[in-house]
Amino acid sequence: MMYCKTAEQIEKMRASAQLVSRTLSLIAADLRPGITTRSIDQQINTIIRDHGAIPSFLNYHGYPFHSCISVNDVVVHGFPSDKELKERDVVSIDIGVILDGWHGDHAYTFVLGDPGPAILQLIRVTKESLYKGIEKCTTNHRVGDISFAIQEHTERKHGYGVVRELVGHGLGTSLHEDPQVPNYGKRGVGPKLKDGLVLAIEPMINLGKKEVFTDSDGWTVRTKDGSVSAHFEHDVCVRPDQADILSDYRPIEAAERNNPNLFTID
Ligand code: MF3
Ligand code: CO
Repeated sequence: MMYCKTAEQIEKMRASAQLVSRTLSLIAADLRPGITTRSIDQQINTIIRDHGAIPSFLNYHGYPFHSCISVNDVVVHGFPSDKELKERDVVSIDIGVILDGWHGDHAYTFVLGDPGPAILQLIRVTKESLYKGIEKCTTNHRVGDISFAIQEHTERKHGYGVVRELVGHGLGTSLHEDPQVPNYGKRGVGPKLKDGLVLAIEPMINLGKKEVFTDSDGWTVRTKDGSVSAHFEHDVCVRPDQADILSDYRPIEAAERNNPNLFTID
């Protein structure tokens, strides 16, 4: 069942999405080599609760943390741990909140120092592909148009591996609603996009091959070939003429530019 949101509900979802953006920007300001991902996760919990919201990932199907922090070959669902971040790590931080009953869920990939041109291009192209997908979030398109646009830019144009096992999704009073939004697929197929539908679009793109596996912890998804993976996610409302991006990368990008420990991607 696909739920289209009313104008009032969309504003509540914007507030949720922007609380995630704000949380990511505060975390970005403080990212540096030597910090443990567990301490980042604890800060995330504090920021979310200070804003009167609930971290939605905690206990979701038994997930044991407040965020997913996925480093280097970890694609998504990385467990925060006592391991310290180091120079040149590629760190995707994915956060979900429930504010006033509505979910926000989005992610950004940071780099601690210059990881070299190949990895920088992967990160830039993954972020670009998110916007190529978002361009299709209008009522004259179908889900397959989003999928095709992302796959076209990453796999066909740059030869990257597009993860098949994990997909974007509808978002609302639940973290995962219909429809599923794969990052690969055919133009003109799949459900029609409706006015007021809110989607979490999230390309997960590997520098090497597309194959992934899940660690023995039951969550951590890694690339099979050990290559680095990038992940960007936005919460987007489908509209007749132009998609409405509910989340906001601007505060995150500002924090990234102002933090000398972070390599600025664009
Ligand atoms: N952004 C991810 C998703 O939409 C985060 C889910 S992590 C979980 O699936 F822990 F909540 F499962
Ligand atoms: Co998501």
